[in-house]
Amino acid sequence: MTNATDSTRQTLAALGVASAEAVAQFFAELRAEFDREAAAASGADDGVKALRDAWMGRKSGVLTRVTDNWLKSAGPELRPAVGKSLNELRGHVEAHIGELQRAGEAAAESTAAARERVDLSLPGVTRPLGSRHLLRQTFADIERIFLSLGFAVVEGPEIETPYYNFEALNIPEHHPARDTMDTFYLDIPRQHSGGPQRLLRTHTSPMQIHTMEKQPAPVRIIVPGKVYRRDNPDATHSYMFHQVEGLAVDTDITFCEFKGTVEYFVREFLGPKIKTRLRPSYFPFTEPSVEIDASCFVCGGSGCRLCKQSGWIELFGAGMVDPAVYGFVNYDARQLSGYAFGLGVDRLSQLKYGIEDVQLFFQNDVRFLRQFP
Ligand code: PHE
Repeated sequence: MTNATDSTRQTLAALGVASAEAVAQFFAELRAEFDREAAAASGADDGVKALRDAWMGRKSGVLTRVTDNWLKSAGPELRPAVGKSLNELRGHVEAHIGELQRAGEAAAESTAAARERVDLSLPGVTRPLGSRHLLRQTFADIERIFLSLGFAVVEGPEIETPYYNFEALNIPEHHPARDTMDTFYLDIPRQHSGGPQRLLRTHTSPMQIHTMEKQPAPVRIIVPGKVYRRDNPDATHSYMFHQVEGLAVDTDITFCEFKGTVEYFVREFLGPKIKTRLRPSYFPFTEPSVEIDASCFVCGGSGCRLCKQSGWIELFGAGMVDPAVYGFVNYDARQLSGYAFGLGVDRLSQLKYGIEDVQLFFQNDVRFLRQFP
């Protein structure tokens, strides 16, 4: 704002401190000068601040300099006039600059408000909730039923040794039962030259052995988990599928308790009207072994496509623990008895929800998944 300074100096020089008229004229010109500068300043960003510094600056603002140079040098006869005019000018300058400042602040506020405006009527951002996979829901159903019977849930490794997957379950090498579970053997470097071969478990039964090795009887556990077999994928086969193993061992477990427990499970899982049937079967680690069938819940037993006209649907394998197994875990076969079962979770889920192709579980097509919220 050199304008104000220059013109003040010029005006002062030109007028001198001569008369009351000269004082009035001088202040009128100074005021006009301020008004011009104020008009120019109001548009610019820093304009008001610069205007304020130029006119109201404490050390060298126009008002200070007029006070220093003129008021102090005015004689006693002119001093009241100069003082009065100076006060009027100061009032005018302060009021005007104050106004400009308030206007600037208000403008800044409304720009900020416009920028930060929140429109509460806009629709929110919807985040669709996911849901648990149908297989996980089936696991949870199964676990809930057995937890209510006093079973504990434990999990085990998917990578096993032939000992736990076969031998300790009474399936020695070259036993034909190994052929029915076409196994993925893992091609990983053995830590020690004589270290055991590794494989992907073909069933959850190895956890029977791990559990009994770790704890003495009584045992009541279920083991949910993934298992692997070299099957070609089709509507009922997948090279990875799911089982829930069950094992109960105690001093007084009878076939009757075993039968009652599986029947209770089937009714809880499939519905109270479902009947069960035990059919002789064979597993190397149970004796006797059975296959549990349920009355067909589509036709009620009269015969249909699902049950292939038999009225029954094969559910899962089970049996009383073969005493030979106790020998592998140092359990006393003369004192203890128990039962085991291996539920095929994918199959149970297919039956319960009427899913014809097991591959639907693994394709992650949301159109399928959404049907089971
Ligand atoms: N492990 C057997 C299978 O996968 C099922 C089973 C478990 C049978 C426990 C009897 C007892 O075929």
